[in-house]
Amino acid sequence: MQVVHSLDQLRSVRAGLAGPHGLVPTMGYLHDGHLSLVRRAKAECASVGVSIFVNPAQFGPTEDLGSYPVDLQRDLDLLRHEQVDLVWTPDREEMYSPGFQTWVEVENLSKHLEGKSRPGHFRGVTTIVTKLFHAFQPDRAYFGQKDAQQVVVIRRMVKDLNFPLEVVVCPTIRGPEGLAMSSRNSYLNPRERAAAAVLYRTLTAAELAFRSGQTDAESLRLRMREVLMSERRARPEYVSVADPDTLEELEGPVERGLLSLAVLVGKTRLIDNLLIGK
Ligand code: PAJ
Repeated sequence: MQVVHSLDQLRSVRAGLAGPHGLVPTMGYLHDGHLSLVRRAKAECASVGVSIFVNPAQFGPTEDLGSYPVDLQRDLDLLRHEQVDLVWTPDREEMYSPGFQTWVEVENLSKHLEGKSRPGHFRGVTTIVTKLFHAFQPDRAYFGQKDAQQVVVIRRMVKDLNFPLEVVVCPTIRGPEGLAMSSRNSYLNPRERAAAAVLYRTLTAAELAFRSGQTDAESLRLRMREVLMSERRARPEYVSVADPDTLEELEGPVERGLLSLAVLVGKTRLIDNLLIGK
C-alpha cells in the first residue's frame, strides 16, 4: 500500500495502477461502515484508492471541524489490512490554496434536509469530491447510503459535469442496537450512545406503520416525532418523508419515500435514514 501526501505523488502512483480503479473518499477515523465500502471496491475493481481528508469547506463556522476525531496510524493499519493500493492524505494548503474561490454547487438538491440545517455543507462536499475525482480519475466511486442526500447530490453532479465514472452506493452498516456507524459516535458517552438507538427505532417504527398501510406522509412524520419524544436525551432537528429523487417533502399517500432525521443527542448531531416502498 502506498501512502502519499502531495498531489504530484498521487498522480504518479495512480498512473501505475491497473483499471478499473475504485475510489473511496473518507474523512478518516475509519469504522466498519467505511471498510464495507473499501471491501466492495476491492471486490469490484483491479485497484483501490482511499482518500483521508477532513475537508474544512464542508463544516460550518460553529461545527466540529476543530474536534473532528483523527487517528491516521490506526486508519492506515486498517487500510493496509484490506490491501488497499493507494491512500492519499491531501494537504489542506494544497487543496485550498490562498485565494481559493472556485466552487462546485448542485443548486436545488443541496437546499433540502441537511442543506437547510447546514448551509454551504454540500458546496464543500461537491467541491472536494470534484477535486478527488480529478486527482484519482476513478472508474467507480463508492459512497454510503448512511449519507442519503450526499449520494443524491453527487449522482446529480456526476451527471451534470459528465464525470466518466459510476457511483456505487453501499448499505448503511449499523451497530447491535441499530445505531448507524459514524466517526461522530466517538463523541457519545455511554448513556448518550444508548439514547442514540432512538434514531433507528424511529425509522423502523415509521417503516412498520407504512407496511401496515399507514402511507400518509404527514402521519409517518407524526409517528417519527412520537417515537423520538420517548427519548428525553434526544432533541430532534428535523424529521422528513421526502421524495428519494428530488428530496422534496411529500404530502398525501407515499409510494416511495426517504425517511430521514437529524437529532441532537447531548452535543452530538446524528443523522440516519431509511428508504421505504418500491
Ligand atoms: P465520511 O463521513 O468519512 O464518510 C465516508 C464515506 O463512508 C461516505 O460515503 C459515507 O456515506 C460512508 N459511511 C459512513 N458511515 C457509514 C455507515 N455506517 N455505513 C455505510 N457507509 C458509511 O462522507 C464523507 O466522509 C465526506 O462528506 C466525503 C464524501 C469524504 C467528502 O469530504
